[in-house]
Amino acid sequence: EQAGKGEYDHFMLKEINEQPTSLAQAIEGRVDSATERIALSDFEPDTFEDVDSVQFVACGTSYHAALYGSLTLNQAGVQSTALLANEYSVSAPPIDDDTLVIAVTQSGETADTLTALRRADAEGARTLTVTNVVGSTAAREADDALFIRAGPEIGVAATKTFSSQAVMLTLLGQRIAGDLQGEPPADLKSLLPELESMPGRLDDLLASSAAESIAEQYSDSQSYFFIGRGLGFPVALEGALKFKEITYEHAEGFASGELKHGPLALVTPETPVFAIFTGQEDEKTLKNAEEAQTRGAPVIAVCPDGHPAVKAADEHLSIPETEPNLAGLLANVQLQLVSYYAADLLDRPIDKPRNLAKSVTVE
Ligand code: AGP
Repeated sequence: EQAGKGEYDHFMLKEINEQPTSLAQAIEGRVDSATERIALSDFEPDTFEDVDSVQFVACGTSYHAALYGSLTLNQAGVQSTALLANEYSVSAPPIDDDTLVIAVTQSGETADTLTALRRADAEGARTLTVTNVVGSTAAREADDALFIRAGPEIGVAATKTFSSQAVMLTLLGQRIAGDLQGEPPADLKSLLPELESMPGRLDDLLASSAAESIAEQYSDSQSYFFIGRGLGFPVALEGALKFKEITYEHAEGFASGELKHGPLALVTPETPVFAIFTGQEDEKTLKNAEEAQTRGAPVIAVCPDGHPAVKAADEHLSIPETEPNLAGLLANVQLQLVSYYAADLLDRPIDKPRNLAKSVTVE
Protein backbone atom coordinates (compact mmCIF):
# COMPACT_ATOMS: atom_id res chain seq x y z
CA GLU A 1 0.00 0.00 0.00
CA GLN A 2 2.82 2.42 0.90
CA ALA A 3 4.27 1.94 -2.59
CA GLY A 4 1.02 3.22 -4.12
CA LYS A 5 1.27 6.41 -2.07
CA GLY A 6 4.64 7.31 -3.56
CA GLU A 7 6.22 10.22 -1.69
CA TYR A 8 3.02 11.00 0.25
CA ASP A 9 1.84 9.86 3.69
CA HIS A 10 -1.71 9.37 2.51
CA PHE A 11 -3.55 8.63 -0.72
CA MET A 12 -5.67 11.72 -0.10
CA LEU A 13 -2.66 14.05 -0.26
CA LYS A 14 -1.37 12.22 -3.31
CA GLU A 15 -4.74 12.58 -5.02
CA ILE A 16 -4.99 16.28 -4.12
CA ASN A 17 -1.58 16.76 -5.72
CA GLU A 18 -2.57 14.79 -8.81
CA GLN A 19 -5.17 17.39 -9.76
CA PRO A 20 -3.09 19.30 -12.32
CA THR A 21 -2.65 16.00 -14.18
CA SER A 22 -6.17 14.66 -13.71
CA LEU A 23 -7.70 17.93 -14.93
CA ALA A 24 -5.40 17.98 -17.95
CA GLN A 25 -6.57 14.41 -18.71
CA ALA A 26 -10.22 15.43 -18.33
CA ILE A 27 -10.03 18.20 -20.89
CA GLU A 28 -7.52 16.64 -23.28
CA GLY A 29 -8.95 16.63 -26.79
CA ARG A 30 -12.21 18.08 -25.52
CA VAL A 31 -11.34 21.77 -25.59
CA ASP A 32 -9.83 23.82 -28.38
CA SER A 33 -9.38 27.50 -27.58
CA ALA A 34 -7.86 28.17 -31.02
CA THR A 35 -11.13 27.28 -32.76
CA GLU A 36 -13.27 28.28 -29.74
CA ARG A 37 -14.91 24.88 -29.69
CA ILE A 38 -15.78 22.27 -27.14
CA ALA A 39 -14.94 19.11 -28.99
CA LEU A 40 -16.73 16.66 -26.67
CA SER A 41 -16.67 14.24 -29.56
CA ASP A 42 -18.11 11.81 -27.04
CA PHE A 43 -21.41 13.07 -28.54
CA GLU A 44 -22.76 13.56 -32.08
CA PRO A 45 -23.26 17.15 -33.31
CA ASP A 46 -26.50 18.77 -32.04
CA THR A 47 -27.13 15.76 -29.84
CA PHE A 48 -28.74 17.89 -27.11
CA GLU A 49 -30.85 20.16 -29.36
CA ASP A 50 -34.16 18.68 -28.13
CA VAL A 51 -33.40 18.79 -24.42
CA ASP A 52 -35.81 21.12 -22.65
CA SER A 53 -34.63 20.63 -19.08
CA VAL A 54 -31.85 18.91 -17.22
CA GLN A 55 -32.05 17.10 -13.87
CA PHE A 56 -28.86 16.05 -12.12
CA VAL A 57 -28.97 13.21 -9.59
CA ALA A 58 -26.07 12.38 -7.28
CA CYS A 59 -24.96 11.92 -3.66
CA GLY A 60 -22.30 13.41 -1.39
CA THR A 61 -19.40 15.06 -3.14
CA SER A 62 -20.83 14.12 -6.52
CA TYR A 63 -24.01 15.97 -5.55
CA HIS A 64 -21.93 19.08 -4.86
CA ALA A 65 -20.35 18.75 -8.31
CA ALA A 66 -23.85 18.25 -9.77
CA LEU A 67 -25.04 21.44 -8.07
CA TYR A 68 -22.04 23.21 -9.54
CA GLY A 69 -22.95 21.86 -13.00
CA SER A 70 -26.58 22.78 -12.59
CA LEU A 71 -25.75 26.37 -11.65
CA THR A 72 -23.48 26.76 -14.68
CA LEU A 73 -26.27 25.42 -16.91
CA ASN A 74 -28.79 27.85 -15.43
CA GLN A 75 -26.32 30.67 -16.03
CA ALA A 76 -26.04 29.53 -19.66
CA GLY A 77 -29.83 29.83 -19.98
CA VAL A 78 -30.80 26.15 -19.68
CA GLN A 79 -33.41 25.07 -17.15
CA SER A 80 -31.73 22.72 -14.75
CA THR A 81 -31.88 21.39 -11.21
CA ALA A 82 -29.64 19.22 -9.02
CA LEU A 83 -31.36 16.64 -6.82
CA LEU A 84 -30.09 14.30 -4.14
CA ALA A 85 -30.41 10.84 -5.65
CA ASN A 86 -31.68 9.41 -2.36
CA GLU A 87 -34.56 11.93 -2.38
CA TYR A 88 -35.40 11.44 -6.03
CA SER A 89 -38.05 8.77 -5.59
CA VAL A 90 -40.07 11.09 -3.36
CA SER A 91 -39.25 14.48 -4.84
CA ALA A 92 -38.48 14.16 -8.56
CA PRO A 93 -39.92 16.96 -10.69
CA PRO A 94 -41.99 15.88 -13.73
CA ILE A 95 -40.08 14.09 -16.48
CA ASP A 96 -40.77 13.68 -20.19
CA ASP A 97 -38.75 12.42 -23.12
CA ASP A 98 -37.12 15.84 -23.55
CA THR A 99 -35.79 15.73 -20.00
CA LEU A 100 -32.14 14.85 -19.73
CA VAL A 101 -31.30 13.16 -16.42
CA ILE A 102 -27.57 13.21 -15.64
CA ALA A 103 -26.30 10.83 -12.95
CA VAL A 104 -23.02 12.10 -11.51
CA THR A 105 -21.12 9.33 -9.76
CA GLN A 106 -17.41 8.76 -9.35
CA SER A 107 -17.74 5.03 -8.84
CA GLY A 108 -20.77 4.45 -11.03
CA GLU A 109 -21.96 2.00 -8.36
CA THR A 110 -23.74 4.16 -5.76
CA ALA A 111 -27.06 2.42 -5.06
CA ASP A 112 -29.04 5.63 -4.46
CA THR A 113 -27.82 7.10 -7.72
CA LEU A 114 -28.50 3.91 -9.70
CA THR A 115 -32.04 3.79 -8.31
CA ALA A 116 -32.66 7.39 -9.42
CA LEU A 117 -31.16 6.65 -12.84
CA ARG A 118 -33.42 3.62 -13.28
CA ARG A 119 -36.47 5.58 -12.22
CA ALA A 120 -35.68 8.34 -14.74
CA ASP A 121 -35.20 5.74 -17.46
CA ALA A 122 -38.48 3.99 -16.59
CA GLU A 123 -40.30 7.31 -16.84
CA GLY A 124 -38.98 7.93 -20.33
CA ALA A 125 -36.20 10.45 -19.70
CA ARG A 126 -33.04 10.45 -21.69
CA THR A 127 -30.17 9.46 -19.36
CA LEU A 128 -26.49 10.21 -19.21
CA THR A 129 -23.88 9.40 -16.58
CA VAL A 130 -20.75 11.36 -15.77
CA THR A 131 -18.45 8.89 -14.09
CA ASN A 132 -14.84 7.93 -13.49
CA VAL A 133 -15.24 4.21 -14.03
CA VAL A 134 -15.50 2.75 -17.50
CA GLY A 135 -17.62 -0.39 -17.34
CA SER A 136 -19.40 0.67 -14.13
CA THR A 137 -23.10 -0.09 -13.71
CA ALA A 138 -24.09 3.55 -14.29
CA ALA A 139 -21.98 3.72 -17.45
CA ARG A 140 -23.59 0.53 -18.77
CA GLU A 141 -27.16 1.42 -17.87
CA ALA A 142 -27.37 5.09 -18.93
CA ASP A 143 -28.08 5.97 -22.57
CA ASP A 144 -24.74 7.79 -22.73
CA ALA A 145 -21.63 8.05 -20.58
CA LEU A 146 -19.06 10.80 -20.24
CA PHE A 147 -15.84 9.76 -18.49
CA ILE A 148 -13.94 12.19 -16.28
CA ARG A 149 -10.62 10.29 -16.68
CA ALA A 150 -9.36 11.15 -13.17
CA GLY A 151 -7.62 7.81 -12.67
CA PRO A 152 -8.19 5.59 -9.62
CA GLU A 153 -9.13 7.40 -6.40
CA ILE A 154 -8.25 5.32 -3.33
CA GLY A 155 -8.92 7.78 -0.48
CA VAL A 156 -12.51 7.51 0.73
CA ALA A 157 -12.71 11.30 0.65
CA ALA A 158 -13.29 12.33 -2.96
CA THR A 159 -10.85 15.06 -4.06
CA LYS A 160 -9.53 14.96 -7.61
CA THR A 161 -12.77 13.48 -8.87
CA PHE A 162 -14.77 16.50 -7.63
CA SER A 163 -12.56 18.83 -9.66
CA SER A 164 -12.80 16.68 -12.76
CA GLN A 165 -16.56 16.29 -12.39
CA ALA A 166 -17.04 20.04 -12.00
CA VAL A 167 -14.91 20.78 -15.06
CA MET A 168 -16.64 18.14 -17.18
CA LEU A 169 -20.06 19.37 -16.11
CA THR A 170 -19.08 22.95 -16.94
CA LEU A 171 -17.98 21.81 -20.40
CA LEU A 172 -21.02 19.62 -20.88
CA GLY A 173 -23.27 22.51 -19.81
CA GLN A 174 -21.71 24.77 -22.43
CA ARG A 175 -22.21 22.06 -25.04
CA ILE A 176 -25.85 21.47 -24.07
CA ALA A 177 -26.56 25.22 -24.09
CA GLY A 178 -24.84 25.55 -27.47
CA ASP A 179 -26.81 22.68 -29.06
CA LEU A 180 -30.07 23.98 -27.65
CA GLN A 181 -29.61 27.60 -28.52
CA GLY A 182 -28.05 26.90 -31.92
CA GLU A 183 -24.89 28.92 -31.14
CA PRO A 184 -22.06 28.73 -28.60
CA PRO A 185 -22.82 30.46 -25.27
CA ALA A 186 -21.42 33.98 -24.98
CA ASP A 187 -18.88 33.19 -22.28
CA LEU A 188 -17.39 30.14 -24.01
CA LYS A 189 -14.74 32.23 -25.74
CA SER A 190 -13.21 33.44 -22.48
CA LEU A 191 -13.79 30.14 -20.66
CA LEU A 192 -11.79 27.86 -22.97
CA PRO A 193 -8.33 29.43 -22.58
CA GLU A 194 -8.97 29.66 -18.83
CA LEU A 195 -9.78 25.96 -18.76
CA GLU A 196 -6.58 25.14 -20.59
CA SER A 197 -4.67 27.18 -17.98
CA MET A 198 -6.20 25.33 -15.04
CA PRO A 199 -3.50 22.62 -14.64
CA GLY A 200 -0.78 25.31 -14.45
CA ARG A 201 -2.83 27.39 -12.02
CA LEU A 202 -3.32 24.35 -9.81
CA ASP A 203 0.42 23.67 -9.84
CA ASP A 204 1.02 27.22 -8.59
CA LEU A 205 -1.64 26.91 -5.89
CA LEU A 206 -0.34 23.58 -4.63
CA ALA A 207 3.22 24.86 -4.48
CA SER A 208 2.37 27.91 -2.37
CA SER A 209 -0.65 27.01 -0.23
CA ALA A 210 -0.88 28.37 3.33
CA ALA A 211 -3.43 25.65 4.22
CA GLU A 212 -1.15 23.79 6.62
CA SER A 213 -0.51 26.82 8.82
CA ILE A 214 -4.20 27.82 8.75
CA ALA A 215 -5.17 24.29 9.82
CA GLU A 216 -2.69 24.52 12.72
CA GLN A 217 -3.81 27.97 13.76
CA TYR A 218 -7.46 26.98 14.11
CA SER A 219 -7.01 23.41 15.29
CA ASP A 220 -8.70 24.02 18.66
CA SER A 221 -11.92 25.44 17.30
CA GLN A 222 -15.39 24.28 18.20
CA SER A 223 -16.98 24.25 14.71
CA TYR A 224 -15.91 25.21 11.22
CA PHE A 225 -18.17 27.13 8.85
CA PHE A 226 -17.86 27.54 5.11
CA ILE A 227 -19.78 30.20 3.17
CA GLY A 228 -20.09 30.97 -0.52
CA ARG A 229 -22.49 32.47 -3.05
CA GLY A 230 -23.39 31.27 -6.54
CA LEU A 231 -20.76 28.75 -7.59
CA GLY A 232 -19.13 29.30 -4.20
CA PHE A 233 -22.13 27.67 -2.51
CA PRO A 234 -21.50 24.08 -3.68
CA VAL A 235 -17.86 24.64 -2.79
CA ALA A 236 -18.88 25.70 0.74
CA LEU A 237 -20.96 22.52 1.07
CA GLU A 238 -18.10 20.43 -0.24
CA GLY A 239 -15.54 22.15 2.01
CA ALA A 240 -17.67 21.31 5.05
CA LEU A 241 -18.34 17.71 3.97
CA LYS A 242 -14.64 17.05 3.46
CA PHE A 243 -13.79 18.64 6.80
CA LYS A 244 -16.27 16.62 8.84
CA GLU A 245 -15.57 13.40 6.93
CA ILE A 246 -11.87 13.24 7.71
CA THR A 247 -11.41 15.34 10.88
CA TYR A 248 -14.60 14.17 12.71
CA GLU A 249 -15.04 17.81 13.76
CA HIS A 250 -18.29 19.67 13.29
CA ALA A 251 -18.39 21.65 10.05
CA GLU A 252 -21.21 23.20 8.03
CA GLY A 253 -21.52 24.91 4.69
CA PHE A 254 -23.99 27.70 4.00
CA ALA A 255 -25.01 30.02 1.21
CA SER A 256 -23.39 33.23 2.49
CA GLY A 257 -26.67 35.13 2.42
CA GLU A 258 -28.28 32.50 4.67
CA LEU A 259 -25.93 33.15 7.57
CA LYS A 260 -28.13 35.96 8.90
CA HIS A 261 -31.25 33.79 8.65
CA GLY A 262 -30.25 31.51 11.51
CA PRO A 263 -26.71 30.10 11.52
CA LEU A 264 -25.30 33.43 12.77
CA ALA A 265 -26.57 32.37 16.21
CA LEU A 266 -23.86 29.69 16.22
CA VAL A 267 -21.04 32.07 15.39
CA THR A 268 -18.51 32.78 18.17
CA PRO A 269 -14.74 33.39 18.38
CA GLU A 270 -14.44 29.57 18.39
CA THR A 271 -16.01 29.13 14.94
CA PRO A 272 -13.69 30.07 12.09
CA VAL A 273 -15.54 31.02 8.89
CA PHE A 274 -13.98 30.15 5.54
CA ALA A 275 -15.43 32.62 3.01
CA ILE A 276 -15.19 31.63 -0.65
CA PHE A 277 -15.06 34.40 -3.26
CA THR A 278 -15.68 33.42 -6.88
CA GLY A 279 -16.32 36.82 -8.44
CA GLN A 280 -20.11 36.49 -8.22
CA GLU A 281 -21.48 39.28 -6.00
CA ASP A 282 -18.35 39.15 -3.86
CA GLU A 283 -19.24 42.43 -2.15
CA LYS A 284 -22.30 40.75 -0.63
CA THR A 285 -20.30 37.71 0.51
CA LEU A 286 -17.76 40.05 2.09
CA LYS A 287 -20.54 41.80 3.99
CA ASN A 288 -21.82 38.42 5.22
CA ALA A 289 -18.31 37.42 6.30
CA GLU A 290 -17.93 40.72 8.16
CA GLU A 291 -21.20 40.04 9.99
CA ALA A 292 -19.57 36.87 11.36
CA GLN A 293 -16.36 38.73 12.11
CA THR A 294 -18.27 41.34 14.13
CA ARG A 295 -19.45 38.44 16.35
CA GLY A 296 -15.84 37.49 16.96
CA ALA A 297 -15.39 34.73 14.37
CA PRO A 298 -12.05 34.64 12.58
CA VAL A 299 -12.62 34.90 8.82
CA ILE A 300 -10.38 33.12 6.35
CA ALA A 301 -10.88 34.58 2.87
CA VAL A 302 -10.36 32.19 -0.03
CA CYS A 303 -9.77 34.56 -2.94
CA PRO A 304 -7.13 35.99 -5.28
CA ASP A 305 -4.34 38.24 -3.95
CA GLY A 306 -5.36 41.88 -4.13
CA HIS A 307 -9.07 41.07 -3.60
CA PRO A 308 -10.78 43.49 -1.13
CA ALA A 309 -11.53 40.51 1.15
CA VAL A 310 -7.80 39.98 1.82
CA LYS A 311 -7.58 43.19 3.86
CA ALA A 312 -10.87 42.67 5.64
CA ALA A 313 -10.27 39.05 6.63
CA ASP A 314 -8.09 37.66 9.43
CA GLU A 315 -6.34 35.17 7.17
CA HIS A 316 -6.04 34.49 3.46
CA LEU A 317 -5.89 31.39 1.29
CA SER A 318 -4.79 32.53 -2.13
CA ILE A 319 -6.25 31.37 -5.44
CA PRO A 320 -5.09 32.44 -8.90
CA GLU A 321 -7.33 34.91 -10.79
CA THR A 322 -9.68 33.17 -13.23
CA GLU A 323 -13.27 33.06 -14.52
CA PRO A 324 -16.07 32.79 -11.93
CA ASN A 325 -16.92 29.39 -13.48
CA LEU A 326 -13.55 28.04 -12.40
CA ALA A 327 -12.59 30.06 -9.32
CA GLY A 328 -14.66 27.80 -7.04
CA LEU A 329 -12.66 24.81 -8.18
CA LEU A 330 -9.41 26.45 -7.14
CA ALA A 331 -10.92 27.50 -3.81
CA ASN A 332 -12.04 23.93 -3.25
CA VAL A 333 -8.48 22.65 -3.60
CA GLN A 334 -7.34 25.03 -0.84
CA LEU A 335 -10.14 23.71 1.35
CA GLN A 336 -9.19 20.09 0.59
CA LEU A 337 -5.70 20.91 1.88
CA VAL A 338 -7.04 22.57 5.05
CA SER A 339 -9.14 19.48 5.81
CA TYR A 340 -6.22 17.18 5.11
CA TYR A 341 -3.80 19.03 7.42
CA ALA A 342 -6.43 19.46 10.16
CA ALA A 343 -7.14 15.71 10.08
CA ASP A 344 -3.43 14.90 10.07
CA LEU A 345 -2.88 17.04 13.19
CA LEU A 346 -5.65 15.09 14.89
CA ASP A 347 -4.04 11.84 13.73
CA ARG A 348 -7.19 10.61 12.02
CA PRO A 349 -7.14 7.61 9.64
CA ILE A 350 -7.40 10.00 6.71
CA ASP A 351 -7.77 7.52 3.87
CA LYS A 352 -10.33 5.35 5.64
CA PRO A 353 -12.55 7.44 7.92
CA ARG A 354 -14.63 5.48 10.40
CA ASN A 355 -18.09 4.29 9.31
CA LEU A 356 -17.60 5.25 5.66
CA ALA A 357 -17.04 3.29 2.46
CA LYS A 358 -15.63 4.47 -0.85
CA SER A 359 -18.63 3.20 -2.72
CA VAL A 360 -22.01 2.97 -1.00
CA THR A 361 -23.86 0.07 -2.58
CA VAL A 362 -26.88 0.02 -0.26
CA GLU A 363 -29.82 2.42 -0.16
C1 AGP B 1 -17.06 12.09 -0.54
O1 AGP B 1 -15.84 12.41 -0.01
C2 AGP B 1 -17.66 10.83 -0.16
N1 AGP B 1 -16.79 9.77 -0.03
C3 AGP B 1 -19.06 10.54 -0.68
O2 AGP B 1 -19.85 11.64 -0.36
C4 AGP B 1 -19.24 10.20 -2.18
O3 AGP B 1 -18.99 11.33 -2.97
C5 AGP B 1 -20.67 9.66 -2.40
O4 AGP B 1 -20.84 8.48 -1.66
C6 AGP B 1 -20.98 9.43 -3.86
O5 AGP B 1 -20.14 8.49 -4.44
P1 AGP B 1 -20.08 8.30 -6.00
O6 AGP B 1 -19.54 9.57 -6.57
O7 AGP B 1 -19.17 7.13 -6.22
O8 AGP B 1 -21.48 8.06 -6.48
